[in-house]
Amino acid sequence: MLFLRVILNVLLLWIYPAKSTNIDKTASRDARLLNDGNTMPLVTFGTLVPVEDLDKLPEAVCSAFESGYRNLDTYYNEYFVADSIKNAISCGMVTRKELFISAKKSLDICTRSGVVSDLKMTLKILQLDYVDLFLINTPINPSGKKNCNVMDIWNGMEDAKKQGLTKSIGVVNFKKEDLDKILPYCTTKPAVNQLEVNPTNTNIELVEYCQKQGIMVMAYRPFGFTVPRPGVTNPPPPCLDDPVLVKIAEKYNVTASQVIVRYPIDRGVVPMSRSTNMTNIEQNDEINSFCLTDEDVAKINEFNVNRPVYPVKSFTFGPDSKKGTKKEQAKRRYEKFYPLA
Ligand SMILES: NC(=O)c1ccc[n+]([C@@H]2O[C@H](COP(=O)([O-])OP(=O)(O)OC[C@H]3O[C@@H](n4cnc5c(N)ncnc54)[C@H](OP(=O)(O)O)[C@@H]3O)[C@@H](O)[C@H]2O)c1
Repeated sequence: MLFLRVILNVLLLWIYPAKSTNIDKTASRDARLLNDGNTMPLVTFGTLVPVEDLDKLPEAVCSAFESGYRNLDTYYNEYFVADSIKNAISCGMVTRKELFISAKKSLDICTRSGVVSDLKMTLKILQLDYVDLFLINTPINPSGKKNCNVMDIWNGMEDAKKQGLTKSIGVVNFKKEDLDKILPYCTTKPAVNQLEVNPTNTNIELVEYCQKQGIMVMAYRPFGFTVPRPGVTNPPPPCLDDPVLVKIAEKYNVTASQVIVRYPIDRGVVPMSRSTNMTNIEQNDEINSFCLTDEDVAKINEFNVNRPVYPVKSFTFGPDSKKGTKKEQAKRRYEKFYPLA
């Protein structure tokens, strides 16, 4: 019997030699199925940089593609990422099909027909035929415009999907009551809800509600207050050297940052981290060699104080102007919607 087991083990090792030595540590190779049948690469690269760092964005996006990321979340900065996408495809590093590119509806578009025109303009700046995900960025009407009906806008999103301008459609910062204004009446459900999810803003009930509805949650600001945030004084714990995070990290021989990016995944949520530092870009993707246990997740949840890094707020838009170079116009577009970020 023992002899047979030894033979079997040798055979298994011969058939699967790579398993124990060559673990693919990069989570960007994994995908998640959305409720509309499309798939989304798991680890997302966020692009919401401070305005003064916009010029660093093209290089950061190239580094992210080189490092393996395929899921790119844009934030009204299409002009600054378009060439990196085009170059990565034309040099054969990636195919368009492998990429997953998200964009957001301009905040000041409030009509059904306006949604399709807005996405066409975004596609022109991105130099693409379609995006993979188009999002309504926040249910509030930041400009205070009257006659802004979320169901009209959602119908516009459905039109955009039907016309093949986007593969999937979704929302950002939608609470339960906002989702409930769409879910009973829509033909296509939101595939995604982007929410701030991190140790100090766990959003447990809303995440669970979305998951019950089959809506994939994407976690923006996964680092929460663990990293310095401009304008924030007295941040709540944890920071990256917190003993709880360090102890979990040591258990898996990873860094506390990797625990932070892994935490949403082990809650069934897609993390969207952002960095302009190559070491961090790589580290934030190398999170497949371990998974957090339910106990680890529960320990991290204990940091929750329901405090978002920057609460969603109303603001008035800056002016529209076609003056200046394309780059100057693109920078103004970014600055116009940045106050909501
Ligand atoms: N839809 C919305 O309303 C909305 C709102 C906010 C954000 N978002 C999206 O979500 C993305 C992520 O949010 P976020 O920009 O606040 O990102 P984040 O990843 O939570 O935080 C970024 C900060 O963390 C630092 N960092 C990243 N990796 C690190 C590591 N391994 N170790 C130490 N520090 C690290 C970065 O510094 P370095 O650059 O030095 O690494 C940067 O200062 C945005 O870029 C955007 O695409 C969406």
